[in-house]
Amino acid sequence: MTKQEASNPQKEYLDDVLAKITMVVNRGDKIMKQIPGLVKKAQKNKHEQEWFEASEVDDRIQKRRYGITLSAELAGISHTLLYQAEQDGRLPEPDYRIDKAKKVRAGYTMNQINHIRKVFGTAPKKPEGANAAIVGILNLKGGSQKTTNCHLLSQSLAIKGYKILLLDTDPQGSLSFFFGKRPDDNVHYEHTIAPFFLEDDEALTEAGHAPGASRSLHYAIQKTYWDNIDIIPSCLQNLNIDLMMPRVMDQSNVPLQDRIMKLRYGLLEVGKDYDFIIIDGTPSLNISTLNVVSACDVCFVPTPAAMLDFASTLQFTSLIGETIQTYGESGIYPNIPDIRYFITKYTSSSYAQFMGEIIRKVFTVERGDVLMNECHASDEIGKANNSTYSIYEQNPTEADNRKRLKSTIDMFDKLYSEMHDSIWETCFGGVARSPFTSKIDQIMANAELMADETAEASDEPIDTHGV
Ligand SMILES: Nc1ncnc2c1ncn2[C@@H]1O[C@H](COP(=O)(O)OP(=O)(O)OP(=O)(O)O)[C@@H](O)[C@H]1O
Ligand SMILES: [Mg+2]
Repeated sequence: MTKQEASNPQKEYLDDVLAKITMVVNRGDKIMKQIPGLVKKAQKNKHEQEWFEASEVDDRIQKRRYGITLSAELAGISHTLLYQAEQDGRLPEPDYRIDKAKKVRAGYTMNQINHIRKVFGTAPKKPEGANAAIVGILNLKGGSQKTTNCHLLSQSLAIKGYKILLLDTDPQGSLSFFFGKRPDDNVHYEHTIAPFFLEDDEALTEAGHAPGASRSLHYAIQKTYWDNIDIIPSCLQNLNIDLMMPRVMDQSNVPLQDRIMKLRYGLLEVGKDYDFIIIDGTPSLNISTLNVVSACDVCFVPTPAAMLDFASTLQFTSLIGETIQTYGESGIYPNIPDIRYFITKYTSSSYAQFMGEIIRKVFTVERGDVLMNECHASDEIGKANNSTYSIYEQNPTEADNRKRLKSTIDMFDKLYSEMHDSIWETCFGGVARSPFTSKIDQIMANAELMADETAEASDEPIDTHGV
């Protein structure tokens, strides 16, 4: 250390701060790795399931099981055919409960129901030859409920039987975490969209991919524990995109229009295998935000029923306007999505109702600009987030308030059904939604979720004669 350095109080101060930060980060990293083990020890004789679930995010499974009748209905086949197919080998043998002396069925997970749909060709699909619908849930306002709605919308569409690709663009990676991908633990730079944006073939070849891998998004797609939901995860290193993209693009002389449309082109290429691509946006404004906006066919803007959030949503909207104008002045006309707003943090308080009215009045120019259904505040979301299993993944029998869980699910079902229809209208034009999709909505709405569905399954005697 030179004399000058030793006497520089600012440097000493910064060194102290850095030492402290390094210590905290090291401790935090260490404990993150040990949390699952520690939780197991601490909770050995207690039964606080939430603790376990939140700590074991990497080993997620679908724990919700649907009764036989509901499963057959959701799969679009008869109860009788389900039994027959299990006996003649078209379908695998069902799972049985291990806590019962007699052989009784455990009910079906959504993956198993989707397998039945595959075998019998009953899953709904985008129209023949259409591109996947690219849908963003975007707003610059932090905490406006983007991630929660991406998470739940993807599961709601997957329950209907569609194939979904999720794209997490937020360096915080919360959506990735919900699907068992831990940002900066098992998700690193080479697993995110960053090498695609930065044309960083070197990083990908180092990670074992073939040369040229950075030209397509295929390298980044990961399976999740939902068979029909894949994800491109995110982690903190996604921040590199904004730091380095302009330089990379300048170096390779990419025309402006192609820079803006890069993500859209990439998603359209991998989108052949999916019905819907859903993008979780970041609460920040940067180059990739504009790329994300231009990638979408439809953009849902969650708008909390509160004044500051309303103001910030207005800024987001005006930013899109300014961007179109600036591009237009340079003779560039990138893709701009059909923008639709939906009200979040909605309650029965007179303030929320008042703000809700204002949002409707301001953002509605044509019918459908603001969705009819609001996203109401519900304690069930917080509870579900603590365990990291969503409201769609809970077994109603395990809910501490089934009535409230049911009404929260009903509320989201209505909102997502409306989103489904507006996406359909924008992306698939005149093609009517599949009658089977409407039927599934109906089945879900009528299903007595209060009932112990697995008990219903278990009470059913196994008919070995093929019904
Ligand atoms: N309907 C709801 N009722 C109650 N709480 C909710 C609801 N939806 C989301 N939340 C909670 O609100 C908080 C913010 O939600 P979320 O993370 O989805 O917002 P976000 O817009 O993605 O935030 P960020 O800008 O940080 O990415 C979370 O704690 C979430 O659990
Ligand atoms: Mg988020």
